[in-house]
Amino acid sequence: MTVHKRPFVVAIDGPAGSGKGTIATGLAQRLGFSYCETGFFFRVLAWHLLHLKLKPENIPSIENVMASAWFQKEWKAFDRSILREEHIGTLASEIAKISQVRTAFTEFQRQEVLQEISPGVILEGRDTGSSVFPDAECKIFLTAAPEVRAHRRFQELQQKGTDISYDQVLKDLCHRDENDTHRALSPLKWDATYHKLDTSSLSIEESIQATEHIIHQTLAENIASSGNASMAAIS
Ligand code: C5P
Repeated sequence: MTVHKRPFVVAIDGPAGSGKGTIATGLAQRLGFSYCETGFFFRVLAWHLLHLKLKPENIPSIENVMASAWFQKEWKAFDRSILREEHIGTLASEIAKISQVRTAFTEFQRQEVLQEISPGVILEGRDTGSSVFPDAECKIFLTAAPEVRAHRRFQELQQKGTDISYDQVLKDLCHRDENDTHRALSPLKWDATYHKLDTSSLSIEESIQATEHIIHQTLAENIASSGNASMAAIS
């Protein structure tokens, strides 16, 4: 019998506002998998740099922040709600181009998954299926029209009372798309190893159901090809 050495990995990548976070959270609850939001790493670091008034060009100082005891131990407890502001996302996208940052976070994220005791992990971000776990059992690329994504983000910010116009949200989002898809290191991209899903006209529930269907199909294919009993227990 083949021994499954790490959890079943579902990598969900896609641009800002494609619904990754909401869908990954819903899927993790339904499947009993754990959830790793990789954008959180970049957003916490961005918040910290703003707080310390450090510029993204100041790479030695950024490395010091990442090596600090706070960043190594306490960052996970950080209040996520204050990180959703678009200016934090924009700075996160700037520091996501730095190789030292990407290397450290990719390693962090791999270790998180390898230490996981649940049967499966949903990883969500930009490069989780291309760089972090290129051998993930299931890869899903979520997308949606820019206007739809901007509208979702605008509603989210309005509910939090943030004073920003729809046009500004669309502009910021397109700028971030441009940055994330054209950077040299681990750009946002998909290939034939991904299942692609356009959520433009889907509700949250429909999107979760569609992705759940993809995961169950992949599990069934994996079980059929490997006869893996531990995977059968998940499905
Ligand atoms: O997903 P989220 O919007 O929170 O990510 C913020 C930024 O962090 C992204 O725009 C992207 O530049 C960066 N990021 C990344 N790789 C990931 C996750 C996020 O480069 N795996």
